[in-house]
Amino acid sequence: MKLFYILPVIYLLKIQLIINANPIRATKSKNTQEIHCPQKKTDSDIIKLFPFFVESNPMLPKPSMTYGLMTNGKINSIEIINQKTCIPSIIFCLKNLEKLIINNSYFCDSTKQINGKMEYLPEQIIKLQKLKTLKISHVNLTFLPNIIGNLISLTDLTLSNTNLEYLPETMSYLKSLVEITLIDNPHLRSIKPTDGLPALQILIARHCSIQNLPRYLPKLKDLFMSYNNLTSLSGIETLSNKENKKQNFEFNNNRITAITPEIRHVHTLSRLHLAQNRLDNLPTDMFDMKNLTYLNLQNNTFLPNEKQYLKDEFTKRNSKLKVYFD
Ligand SMILES: *[C@@H]1O[C@H](CO)[C@@H](O)[C@H](O)[C@H]1NC(C)=O
Ligand SMILES: *[C@@H]1O[C@H](CO)[C@@H](O)[C@H](O)[C@H]1NC(C)=O
Ligand SMILES: *[C@@H]1O[C@H](CO)[C@@H](O)[C@H](O)[C@H]1NC(C)=O
Ligand SMILES: *[C@@H]1O[C@H](CO)[C@@H](O)[C@H](O)[C@H]1NC(C)=O
Ligand SMILES: *[C@@H]1O[C@H](CO)[C@@H](O)[C@H](O)[C@H]1NC(C)=O
Repeated sequence: MKLFYILPVIYLLKIQLIINANPIRATKSKNTQEIHCPQKKTDSDIIKLFPFFVESNPMLPKPSMTYGLMTNGKINSIEIINQKTCIPSIIFCLKNLEKLIINNSYFCDSTKQINGKMEYLPEQIIKLQKLKTLKISHVNLTFLPNIIGNLISLTDLTLSNTNLEYLPETMSYLKSLVEITLIDNPHLRSIKPTDGLPALQILIARHCSIQNLPRYLPKLKDLFMSYNNLTSLSGIETLSNKENKKQNFEFNNNRITAITPEIRHVHTLSRLHLAQNRLDNLPTDMFDMKNLTYLNLQNNTFLPNEKQYLKDEFTKRNSKLKVYFD
């Protein structure tokens, strides 16, 4: 009889715990400052309020130009390059923005500190609910706010030449992400929050300090991780393409010392770049990877007679494969 009353209480408590454990909800209520968007102003009026000139619909968009693209009076794309004066919060009133590119420019109200670190990207970014492409480069960004996990329309995210130290765990909510680019982020050691992203096809993470492969990316096609701190390829068996699409993996210029036999389960792997690592052996399982067409093993630590043996053996077992040792 008593149990009958207690069970619903436990159930309710559980629900409450789940709500509290949701990091996005927590951040939202705590930190988002409201911006008052002028009701009567059009998108054009809004960009005229910027402290720097934003060219509209230029016929000749140039590489380091600040400009916006507009259709039917709505601005859907903005590129802000090398601006000395700061980007005003009113930018977050451009509700139709689908693409935001920022290079070497700063937001005006990014003076808040979170956990002792200066905020770069204001949390008001979540007002841009239609944002599909976000590219930030050449800025002193050390972390992304958790609220980034609310930008559920994002398909393409780039963070390059930053001081980023980690990715927020809420990135795992970005189920529409197709492409992630992380280049020249020397303090970034882990990309674990990308694990399991269901739509991710292209992951470019070069010149960072990443120590482990991502895992469980069922649509992955291109994985480019040159110039990182990988020492093994453990978990690679979780990265085969579940739609049987060909895959191209680059792990050159790391410190890989051994390859796990489980690599044979990546049956869709077509190109594998392993130059400039510390390999002196390979698992025999690689002879069975019949879909492999390109294998680069330059600048590893194989002896000349070993190279010759491997070359001969690979050619014998897989006539489609080109192996490079020097
Ligand atoms: C972005 O900023 C960096 C640093 O100032 C500069 O070297 C680079 O050329 C800029 N990129 C573009 C596309 O203007
Ligand atoms: C970048 O941010 C970090 C952490 O907030 C700070 O220590 C560093 O001095 C900043 N660098 C520049 C060039 O502003
Ligand atoms: C990553 O490797 C570079 C050299 O390739 C080294 O300077 C750096 O200290 C390493 N970083 C970590 C976190 O191990
Ligand atoms: C080669 O790839 C196809 C799919 O593209 C797959 O069905 C087949 O099993 C693979 N072959 C091997 C030997 O892994
Ligand atoms: C191999 O090392 C040589 C000499 O250090 C270098 O010139 C070459 O670019 C390297 N090749 C690859 C594919 O990394």
